[in-house]
Amino acid sequence: MTSTFKTKLRDLACGEINSSLIGKRIAIAGWVRKIRNHGGILFIDIRDRTGVVQVIVNPEDENLNSMVKTLKKEFVIQVFGLVRKRPNDQINKSMKTGEVEVLAEKINVLNPSDETPIEVKDDVVITEKNRFKYRYLDLRRPKIQKNILFRHEVVKAVRDFLNSKNFVEIETPLLVKSTPEGARDFLVPSRMHKGKFYALPQSPQLYKQLLMIAGFDRYYQIVKCLRDEDLRADRQPEFTQIDLEMSFVDQEDVMNLTESLIKYVVEKTLGLELNEPFQRMTYDEAMDKYGSDKPDLRFGLELEDVKDAVKILNLRIFEAEAVKALRVDALFSRKKIKEFENIVKLYKARGLAWISLKDGSVSGSLSKFATDEFLKRINLKEGETIFIVAGDKSIVNTSLGQLRLALGKELNLINEDEFKFLWVTDFPMFEYDDEEKRLVAQHHPFTKPEVVSEELEKHPLSVKALAYDIVLNGWELGGGSIRIENIDLQRRIFKLIGLSDEEAEKKFGFLLEALRYGAPPHGGLAIGLDRLATLLSKQTDIREFIAFPKNKSAENPMDGSPSEVDPRQLEELGISIRK
Ligand code: AMO
Repeated sequence: MTSTFKTKLRDLACGEINSSLIGKRIAIAGWVRKIRNHGGILFIDIRDRTGVVQVIVNPEDENLNSMVKTLKKEFVIQVFGLVRKRPNDQINKSMKTGEVEVLAEKINVLNPSDETPIEVKDDVVITEKNRFKYRYLDLRRPKIQKNILFRHEVVKAVRDFLNSKNFVEIETPLLVKSTPEGARDFLVPSRMHKGKFYALPQSPQLYKQLLMIAGFDRYYQIVKCLRDEDLRADRQPEFTQIDLEMSFVDQEDVMNLTESLIKYVVEKTLGLELNEPFQRMTYDEAMDKYGSDKPDLRFGLELEDVKDAVKILNLRIFEAEAVKALRVDALFSRKKIKEFENIVKLYKARGLAWISLKDGSVSGSLSKFATDEFLKRINLKEGETIFIVAGDKSIVNTSLGQLRLALGKELNLINEDEFKFLWVTDFPMFEYDDEEKRLVAQHHPFTKPEVVSEELEKHPLSVKALAYDIVLNGWELGGGSIRIENIDLQRRIFKLIGLSDEEAEKKFGFLLEALRYGAPPHGGLAIGLDRLATLLSKQTDIREFIAFPKNKSAENPMDGSPSEVDPRQLEELGISIRK
C-alpha cells in the first residue's frame, strides 16, 4: 500500500481504496459528503478530489456513534479503520470504491464546517453570483474538479510534448511597456516613477521575438495574458496561452509542429487518435463559403452566390456588391423567420429576403415575384426555404455566416461528438478601421506579409499575410504568423498602419533596435489554453475551466475586485481620482 498521497495524516486518498486493500488498516482524510442512518447503522461518505469512499460505523461502539452524530456535511475528518468487502447486495458498481467500505475504528475531526452557503454537489441549481462568491466551495463539486483536473492533464501533455521537441520554457515579464494594438491594456501605475505606467501584457509577443533574437530558437510558455475587452463565453480579461515561437522556420514548420502538439494532447487526454491531417482553407474561401474566418465544419450548409439568379427580378434591393443565399430543407413559422431576420440585422444586413415551397405553393417575402423562370433559376424544391441577403460583400458574408450557425443549431445539423479542426491561412495583412480611419494589422504588425514589393504600399488591402489560425468546431483556438525579421520591412509596416517614424521609435524602438543585430527568421503561434480545455471537454463556457474566473462584468465577487484602494496608496502613486 504505497500511495503518492501518503502523509502523516493519511495513508492514501479516498478514491484509491479498492478490493486489493481488503483486510488492511488504513488512515484516510477528507470532507463529510453525507451521513446516512440505515436501520440504526451510520454510514459516512467521505470525499476528496480522487473520489468518495463509504465509511461504516460499528453499531456496537457507542462512543463512536455518538461522536459521528455530531458530524455535519463538509466537516474535515480523519478516519482510521479496516477496509472490508461490502455485502453483495450493497456493492455499488457506479462508484470507483463501490466494492469496499471502511469500518471505522477511530474518527478525528480535523476541522468543523459551518453550513455551506452553496451545496457541494453536482446537479443543483446555484446562482452564478453565489458560485463565484464561494468559488472555493463551487470548486469542491466533482464536476468542476473534473474540469480543473482535465485542464491540468492538458497542460501536462503540452509540456511533455514541447519538452520532447527541444523547446525551452522561459518566463517573460508581467510589467511591460504599454503598446496597445487591438485590445485595451490594463495599466499599472509606477510608484517610483510618478505619472508613468507599466502595462500588463496582452501576450508575450515582442518578448518571444526578442528571445529568438537572443538565440533560444524554440521557446514556449504557459502564460497569463491580460486584455481589457468586453467579455463573452469564450473570453476572459485574464486568460492563458500556450505560447510558442521557433527560429529558422516557415509557415509549414509551425503549422506541422502545432498540429502534432494538438494530436498528442488529444491522444493523451482523451485517448483519441486524430489520424487525418487537419483540413485547410484560405481566409477568402472560409468567408465566401461559410461567412466566417472560423467556420464550424461539423455541418455543411454553404453560402450560395445567387447574384445572377436574382437579376431577372429587377429589384433595387438586389442591386448590390453581393447577393448570397442559404438553402435549407425545412419550413419555418413567421415568428422564427423574424428571429432569423433579427440575427442578420444585428450583423448590419438591411433585411432578410426569403422564399419557401410547401405543397406546390410559394410563400415568403419574395413570393409575389416568384415567376416560373425565377423559381427555375433558384431551383427551389418542395419543402425548402431559401434565405437571401444583399449588400456589401463583408456584410453579406458575415450576416449569413451567423444565420448559418443559427440554422445549424435550429435544425440539429451539428454532431456534438465531433472535433473538426481546421487551419485557416492567407489572412489579409490589413483591414481598414472605420473608427480610427486607418489601416490596422489583422493579426499584429509584426506579421510578415506574403508580398514585400511596392504592391504593399500600392494595394495594402489586397496583400495577404503569412498568418494562420487553428479553428476547432467554430471557435478560434489559436493563431500565429511568420514574423518580420527585417528592420526596413518592419518600418514600412508601421508606416502603413499610420505610425510616423517618431511614433514607431517611441512605441517599438526596442524591437526596431533589436532587429539590427541579426534577427533570425522566426514565427510562432499561441493557443488559448482555456478554450482548448473547454472544447475538448465538449463544453462552451471557458469559466468552467478557470479556477478563479471573473464574472461578465469583469469582477470577482469572491475577493471583491476591482475595489477602491486606500487614499494613501493613491497618494504614493501620485494619482487622484476624478469624481
Ligand atoms: P491572439 O490574440 O490571436 O494571438 O491570441 C491567441 C489565442 O488566445 C486566445 N484568446 C483568448 N482566450 C480567452 N479570452 C480572451 N480574451 C482571449 N483572447 C485571445 C484565443 C486566441 O486564438 N501573440 C499572438 C500569437 C502569435 O502571433 O504567436 C496572440 O496573442 O484562443
